Amino acid sequence: MPFSDSYARPIEYLRVSVTDRCNLRCRYCMPEEGIIPIAHDAVLRYEEIVRIVRVAVSMGLAAGEPLVRRGIVDLVAQLAAIPGLEDLSMTTNGMLLERYAGELAQAGLRRINLSLDTLRPERFHNITRLGSLEQVLRGREAALEAGLRPVKVNTVVVRGSNDDEIVDLARLTLLPDWHVRFIEVMPLGTGEHWSEDGVVPTTEIRARVEAGLGPLISVPNETGVGPARYYQLPGAAGTLGFISPVSEHFCHACNRLRLTSDGLLLPCLMSDRSIDLRTPLRTGASDSELREIFQKAILAKPRGHQLAEHQLPECLLPMSTIGG
Ligand code: 5AD
Ligand code: SF4
Repeated sequence: MPFSDSYARPIEYLRVSVTDRCNLRCRYCMPEEGIIPIAHDAVLRYEEIVRIVRVAVSMGLAAGEPLVRRGIVDLVAQLAAIPGLEDLSMTTNGMLLERYAGELAQAGLRRINLSLDTLRPERFHNITRLGSLEQVLRGREAALEAGLRPVKVNTVVVRGSNDDEIVDLARLTLLPDWHVRFIEVMPLGTGEHWSEDGVVPTTEIRARVEAGLGPLISVPNETGVGPARYYQLPGAAGTLGFISPVSEHFCHACNRLRLTSDGLLLPCLMSDRSIDLRTPLRTGASDSELREIFQKAILAKPRGHQLAEHQLPECLLPMSTIGG
């Protein structure tokens, strides 16, 4: 996607949600029951995703949980074979990673983003309602052994839930192969009632890390793009990242478009606008027509959102639909 949007941001990353289904029910993301899944025939088929991705240069697979969709390794292999694709990553909850890490690496996946909010087994089970911390940690090991590097941990910080583990999680980056990114919890979708009380602003997370572990040293973002800011603890090999969707406008650094599993292009995570790609795809649009639709979505990207000013967009999809 060698395009720039109306605000001169280069748009070079496509986040593809391959499914809205998930094998966990994290409290900030989904209700325990009563989720209405997207109808089967509305979900993009793999060949449709592959076709779309041919016009993108760099992408991440997310969801829902990508590893619950049947044939996901085949999709990865097909995507990895697209000439010019610069990066291919997957955001996963890790429950099935032990089983698939080897195959995914062989298929051409480069790296993993792993959702992990706590290091306490009981709490892990409570937050995810269905998950097992041990299984996820085994999945992480398997990913590293298979050469899927780096594994970047995503930690959604929620006050009163896991904020007492900020220092423990940050300390992990002193160990080999641990990279941790703290994310402010966002008011998305159908999760448990979200209130601003749950948000721990990045400034506070950072202050707590520094009080416990020493001053952070700023490091450049390896890829040069994206919303996270990266730091290191003195003497650490791993990086500590901060993603501040609520307290800060990182919109100026936004380099992405999102594709939902049912084929909508979302110009912005926070916008209630979407652009239908599935219908043209299924009614014979040419590659250049698809490219035009991409361009339209890119030009529809807003300058930014107003979460920091306490304005919530009217309709927000859960992360399981958008894929982060
Ligand atoms: N706020 C912030 N991050 C979230 N994620 C899921 N829901 C939310 C939310 N409401 C995270 C997941 C995953 C990434 C794709 O987004 O933990 O790591
Ligand atoms: Fe980009 Fe929208 Fe996210 Fe801002 S809120 S960083 S514009 S996707």
